[in-house]
Amino acid sequence: MPETMTDLNPPPRLLLGPGPINADPRVLRAMSMPILGQFDPVFTGYMDETMGLLRRLYQTDNKWAFLVNGTGRAGIEAILTSLIAPGDRVLVPVFGRFGHLLCEIAARSGGDVRHIEAEWGTVFTPDQLEDAIKKHRPRVVALVHGDTSTTMAQPLDEIGAICRAHEALLYVDATATLGGMEVAVDAWQLDAVSAGLQKCLSGPPGSSPITFNERVADAVNQRKHIEAGIEPGGFVAGNGPRIQSNYFDLPMLMDYWSEQRLNHHTEATSMLYAARECARIVLAEGVADCVTRHALTSTALTTGLRAMDLELFGDQAHKMAGVTGVVIPKSVDGEAVRSALLNDYGIEIGTSFGPLKGRVWRIGTMGYNCRKQNVLICLAALEATLRQQGFATKSGAAVDAALAVYRQAGQ
Ligand SMILES: Cc1ncc(COP(=O)(O)O)c(C=O)c1O
Repeated sequence: MPETMTDLNPPPRLLLGPGPINADPRVLRAMSMPILGQFDPVFTGYMDETMGLLRRLYQTDNKWAFLVNGTGRAGIEAILTSLIAPGDRVLVPVFGRFGHLLCEIAARSGGDVRHIEAEWGTVFTPDQLEDAIKKHRPRVVALVHGDTSTTMAQPLDEIGAICRAHEALLYVDATATLGGMEVAVDAWQLDAVSAGLQKCLSGPPGSSPITFNERVADAVNQRKHIEAGIEPGGFVAGNGPRIQSNYFDLPMLMDYWSEQRLNHHTEATSMLYAARECARIVLAEGVADCVTRHALTSTALTTGLRAMDLELFGDQAHKMAGVTGVVIPKSVDGEAVRSALLNDYGIEIGTSFGPLKGRVWRIGTMGYNCRKQNVLICLAALEATLRQQGFATKSGAAVDAALAVYRQAGQ
């Protein structure tokens, strides 16, 4: 039979890279439910339920919490391209690859983008951010929460108040942290936040949950233009420039996700089922318990890696819970280790980008994969692989050290 006619049969893999992760089977089951019409009252009911679940996930009372179809950067692009009008000053504090992505999207939106950089493996202090805001006087500050490229997480709890004091709107990219680290949207005064399903939310890539407050809603509504053919009678367009993207136009998405149900795209039915299930899974465990599970897993993994005499990458006080950077020992071939893990054990771990390419492995323990058994399997397989590569380490030390962490935590 020609290859294209054979059934898909992906090999079993344990996805311990920076995402995607193995989706929770409950999410895959939800995705196999029958397709409904986008204005079927049952389906619009699911849309409303999903909004409610996302509000709880984001710890917010925002009216606006919904899905943007597409991977994590779809949510980023919808927010930034709707918010940033040509010439708007935007400040992006960059501490890894995804900060550069925010610069790129803000610049494509026509923003007057200023950026400051922290060395990869570190984050910014609130004072550094405030100084930059005072200097550049941005209308929008765009900041990554957990940058998977460096495995660092920028503390956010003080940044919202600083932005408010200087009349800037704060957008946060929580693609890789929502569900795995605290993202307290209201308490931290985050104006707009986006995420992805394929990391700590245990889903497949392809849907981006976002939320934003009335400050952002007011700002984007000033640019509201509705496409001809669906415009309701008497509609008056906003004074601001038309948003350059139709697909990522927040005011039109808001009309679609609100009682008005004004037609825009056809909602990606199966991805909505997935996102709804992802949110239910986190909320059933409890956001705080999910965060604790990610933190404990991180401690067990890093303790095991250190016991193997491996060096961790970056400022460990600001490490993301769900991704761990490991300095590749000089004596080993990093890509050969990754290939052996994949081919011999079916385990995927990540390499990194830019200045860290070939210097750092990234091990993800997010969402459904954030479990004791995966930590132990990963440590055992990595130790065996490193020994094959001639890297001397005390046999069994890593797994023993990780088990001790779990024992101490009563697990
Ligand atoms: C912090 C961060 N932001 C944005 C993205 C982009 O998300 P996606 O690849 O789903 O578009 C990623 C993906 O790895 C990420 O880790």
